[in-house]
Amino acid sequence: MGFCRGLLRMSFLGFVWFLGFVLILDSGGVQGWSKEGHIMTCQIAQELLEPEAAHAVKMLLPENVNGDLSALCVWPDQIRHWYKYRWTSSLHFIDTPDEACNFDYDRDCHDPHGVKDMCVAGAIQNFTSQLSHYREGTSDRRYNMTEALLFLSHFMGDIHQPLHVGFTSDEGGNTIQLRWFRHKSNLHHVWDREIILTAATDYYGKDMDLLEQDIEGNFTDGIWHDDVASWKECGNIFTCVNKWAAESITIACKWGYKGVESGMTLNDDYFNSRLPIVMKRIAQGGVRLAMVLNRVFGASDEDMVSAT
Ligand SMILES: *[C@@H]1O[C@H](CO)[C@@H](O)[C@H](O)[C@H]1NC(C)=O
Ligand SMILES: *[C@@H]1O[C@H](CO)[C@@H](O)[C@H](O)[C@H]1NC(C)=O
Ligand SMILES: *[C@@H]1O[C@H](CO)[C@@H](O)[C@H](O)[C@H]1NC(C)=O
Repeated sequence: MGFCRGLLRMSFLGFVWFLGFVLILDSGGVQGWSKEGHIMTCQIAQELLEPEAAHAVKMLLPENVNGDLSALCVWPDQIRHWYKYRWTSSLHFIDTPDEACNFDYDRDCHDPHGVKDMCVAGAIQNFTSQLSHYREGTSDRRYNMTEALLFLSHFMGDIHQPLHVGFTSDEGGNTIQLRWFRHKSNLHHVWDREIILTAATDYYGKDMDLLEQDIEGNFTDGIWHDDVASWKECGNIFTCVNKWAAESITIACKWGYKGVESGMTLNDDYFNSRLPIVMKRIAQGGVRLAMVLNRVFGASDEDMVSAT
């Protein structure tokens, strides 16, 4: 009995320790779209894949996900604190100079130690380039093509989350503590997750599939129908990542940071005016991820990497 109690207590303490560990991991640093944002981005993209790309994606995914890319799109957030993957942690975002409201690759795309290319824009180029060797069948053994696919899919979501290309001193809004309606949050998290979850609750009965279908309807024949062609415009990957990152910091300044101060309460006004922007960024991320995958795996010889 005593022994059992001891065991129970041990495992209880172990559990508390584990919880603490998970909480620390969970609250650590800048994250991309929430799990919901990433899943929607990847589901939108997968539906837009042409046959060659759809086949390549299926071949690269582990069997247990049954060909569902979105099941693993959150993976890079889950492993970013593991020792083996610590090098990936600066690849989720870009810190730009406070109030500059623009993006300059040479100035901004580096990790905190100044190592060049270690930011979300550099990562997208890197993994696009790795995947472009898949077609040749001589894929470079140094690179794990499955990981390249998962990283690319995740980072295409991140670069479209406006507060992912944010100011340096507030860590993309992470240190701006505020209230979202009645509960505590921070500006980064409002853009990662709060707006999406509030929309799901208010308008879609918490059904993320309905929300995603509404986004898809709005670019197949709704309000964004005429914009999709321009979203997909992309000469080479370097020009494109620069354009996407610049869009994000522009939105972050105009809609994210504008009028916001620590300690404020954000509610209906902020939610209603920002919701359409969040939805559009998710749509653009999905459409553009499909565009990149269709080109790297596709039958055409449009090369989007060699010029970099
Ligand atoms: C590119 O990926 C390789 C691993 O596949 C990694 O070692 C390198 O740091 C990455 N660079 C960037 C900019 O993502
Ligand atoms: C590639 O990476 C995945 C995910 O980390 C891993 O499960 C798989 O074993 C790796 N494949 C090779 C050939 O190393
Ligand atoms: C889709 O467009 C309609 C009409 O403008 C709008 O009311 C709705 O909020 C949009 N939905 C999403 C998810 O963007």
